Amino acid sequence: MAHILSAVAWPYANGPRHLGHVAGFGVPSDVFSRYMRMAGHDVLMVSGTDEHGTPILVQADKEGTTAQELADRSNRIIVNELAALGCSYDLFTRTTTRNHYAVAQEMFRQVHANGYMVERTTRGAISPSTGRTLPDRYIEGTCPICGYAEARGDQCDNCGNQLDPTELIGPHSRINGETPQFVETQHFFLDLPALAAALGEWLDGREASGTWRPNVIRFSRNILGDIKPRAMTRDIDWGIPVPLEGWVEQPTKRLYVWFDAVIGYLSASVEWARRIGDPERWRDWWNDPEALSYYFMGKDNITFHSQIWPAELLAYGGHGDKGGQAGAFGDLNLPTEVVSSEYLTMEGKQFSSSRGVVIYLKDVLARYQVDALRYFICAAGPENADSDFTWREFVSRTNGELVAGWGNLVNRTAAMIAKSFGEVPAPGPLTEADEALLAAVREGFDSVGALIARHRQRQAIAEAMRVVGVANKYVTDTAPFTLKAPEQRERLATILHVLAQAVWDLNTILAPFLPHSANAVHTALGGSGDFMPMPRVDEVTDLEDGHPYPIITGDYSATPAWASSPVPVGARVVKPTPIFTKLDDDVVEAELDRLRDAAAED
Ligand code: MF3
Ligand code: ZN
Repeated sequence: MAHILSAVAWPYANGPRHLGHVAGFGVPSDVFSRYMRMAGHDVLMVSGTDEHGTPILVQADKEGTTAQELADRSNRIIVNELAALGCSYDLFTRTTTRNHYAVAQEMFRQVHANGYMVERTTRGAISPSTGRTLPDRYIEGTCPICGYAEARGDQCDNCGNQLDPTELIGPHSRINGETPQFVETQHFFLDLPALAAALGEWLDGREASGTWRPNVIRFSRNILGDIKPRAMTRDIDWGIPVPLEGWVEQPTKRLYVWFDAVIGYLSASVEWARRIGDPERWRDWWNDPEALSYYFMGKDNITFHSQIWPAELLAYGGHGDKGGQAGAFGDLNLPTEVVSSEYLTMEGKQFSSSRGVVIYLKDVLARYQVDALRYFICAAGPENADSDFTWREFVSRTNGELVAGWGNLVNRTAAMIAKSFGEVPAPGPLTEADEALLAAVREGFDSVGALIARHRQRQAIAEAMRVVGVANKYVTDTAPFTLKAPEQRERLATILHVLAQAVWDLNTILAPFLPHSANAVHTALGGSGDFMPMPRVDEVTDLEDGHPYPIITGDYSATPAWASSPVPVGARVVKPTPIFTKLDDDVVEAELDRLRDAAAED
């Protein structure tokens, strides 16, 4: 039994989530966390909304509202969406809590005290026409590294490198196109070069583990080769005050949003421990060197998780060239693995990027089964390469694999049992074919489990569906529907028992991917109660200042074990209603029309 931290990227609180988000961090992290709980580990799964910085300000300005109002509204939307997707967070919170402010400021103070935050005079951008500071993200220009023409002042989305606005070639304001004026300003820089050796040592160890995805380790190595100090404060009035004398009282100096966002993993763990009434409990995941931590995200976040966050942790503990000592949180664990996915495009480029039209999670959940979406993402998501969501493939995978494969196996098993016995029958003597099916299913626990543990979810669900195929073939081979004579009744009971057992165990194997339907299958075969625990949304108040907000949390202690368990002989089985809904082919055209309409409105 290990302590496993499942650290899920914090979505910006700037609007609803689209399919790219949930394919990148949402579903993969939930499959992994559910599986690890089933395998007997003590999982802490945390995240929240990322509410500071220019992404929120830009959006709030566009909507003519305040950053706080936008963050409050978006946080609530995102909480409900991720809960509906079944994401089993122990705590999904937000970065505007007093607890998060306190934890982020404690981190900054100790990193500073250890000598890794160096004050420097730099040039910052202001808008000549308004005199206001121009945040990095408001500035666009050509990337000095890859030549991409639409790089932003904070990061190039083409090559993924972090940038400073002054590095851009031909910088101009995104608001009105004017050339920004650069004036002198003071900022704190994280002394990454003084942490490079320690970072390299950590990365060597991680690479030796052999489990990181090749793209992620390659990228992380590359950026280590070109390491420079990075500004961790900004000229902006929305964010966490810089906790130093002479700084804390300045209304337009704030911590850089990425400095505080990654600290959310720690602050959410601390908040979770306080909420369960065991305030030091978070230390099991952060101070115990045996604990494991997995960080889930899309590839544009790799830099921050394989360089900035480990650097913050090393600096906090005094583990760089300048030495130092750990603060009140003690020596904090570095990531075991940065699990990054690639990008999901939606119906190719004509809809997603050029027109700014995307497919929103809420629209899919309003019209289709949540597990049909989860199935698509697990089977065809951007795990190791970019992948494309198309409505045609969604319909064909739902109908061809989920309905015709797994759904059909469940439905005919339950229907035959309901018709002939009305309850799960006890078996007679087993034949070789019976034993072979049960063995194939048992082996599925090992093969599928090993793949999920190594973040090979596409292969894992394909392997589970292969075993579903073996069970469907068993139905064809043994043809239980032909066994009608009284002297065949014992054989019929045996076949249906074996099938029920196979479906029962396959349901366990598929449960991390398809938790909602796992509960329906469980009930269809006479199981009692819920099988897979679900998250819930609680209304809480900030522990310090009473500000109300919703969180996702849950009691996952009744999670079933990742092992074969006996199907309940004698449990009542009634004629089932289909678990999965077959989709009409018209769905494709109807959805494409919707996208065209949305693009036209844009
Ligand atoms: N808000 C960022 C994004 O959507 C992700 C932040 S991950 C965090 O790209 F851990 F740093 F918060
Ligand atoms: Zn670039």
